[in-house]
Amino acid sequence: MEGFDPRTSFGDQTSRDYDAVSMRGDEEETVAFLAGLASGREALELAVGTGRIALPLRAAGVRVDGIELSQDMVDRMREKPGGDQVQVTIGDMAAAATGHTYGLVYLVFNTIGNLLTQDDQVRCFENAARHLTGDGVFVLECRVPTAPARAGRQFIEVEDLELDHVGLGVCRYDPVTQILDVNHVHLGADGLGFSPIRLRLAYPPEFDLMARLAGLRLRDRWGGWRGEPFTAASWRHISIYERADA
Ligand SMILES: C[S@@+](CC[C@H](N)C(=O)[O-])C[C@H]1O[C@@H](n2cnc3c(N)ncnc32)[C@H](O)[C@@H]1O
Repeated sequence: MEGFDPRTSFGDQTSRDYDAVSMRGDEEETVAFLAGLASGREALELAVGTGRIALPLRAAGVRVDGIELSQDMVDRMREKPGGDQVQVTIGDMAAAATGHTYGLVYLVFNTIGNLLTQDDQVRCFENAARHLTGDGVFVLECRVPTAPARAGRQFIEVEDLELDHVGLGVCRYDPVTQILDVNHVHLGADGLGFSPIRLRLAYPPEFDLMARLAGLRLRDRWGGWRGEPFTAASWRHISIYERADA
């Protein structure tokens, strides 16, 4: 997708629509899992967004800071109850520093993929490691890629199918860069809408190598927030990294 700019992909309109389309139904179990890991220590969410996870985690008694690229997303968080209690550093999660260390740093909802090169993803692991206390952990939640296995490297997924409107995900995968371009297309009586996103996909072992480059090592990997085992059938992974010298 020529001209795609990751800095503007979570701008004003997307931030206003975000919560309506992005609540996944697993927020409660996510928060319970993260609060258990934090175990009374402070937390940092990379790409904190509108506070979908940070706000209920804060309400569960964990002090949470955030790093976020989009001021619009943070503005939406500020409009919610408790939204002023999360301290946010505006910047790139691969580089920005909060000036503190945390017992828990986490990055959820496939958002590592918003960094579009392997170098940037490695820098993100390094930045997470820089923010960890000696006994801290970095939690990464991400889908296991399926696009590389699709024939022809391009495909369309039906996301919504009703009498008066359809939603389609029009996708193209480039195995050279590991980048998946998706344009979510809305077709309805109210018109036509496009919502493009670009993600760099990686399998768990590549993330484990990134962790190693950042001085971390894999401690646990789960298939879900309830501690489901990670197997060949898992559609996502929740990976917990600790300092290699811990
Ligand atoms: C899918 S949303 C996830 C938001 C939140 N973590 C959640 O789970 O609801 C992706 C977020 O990542 C942010 N983002 C994208 N690239 C970023 C970067 N390089 N540094 C910091 N935030 C980034 C976007 O602005 C957006 O808020």
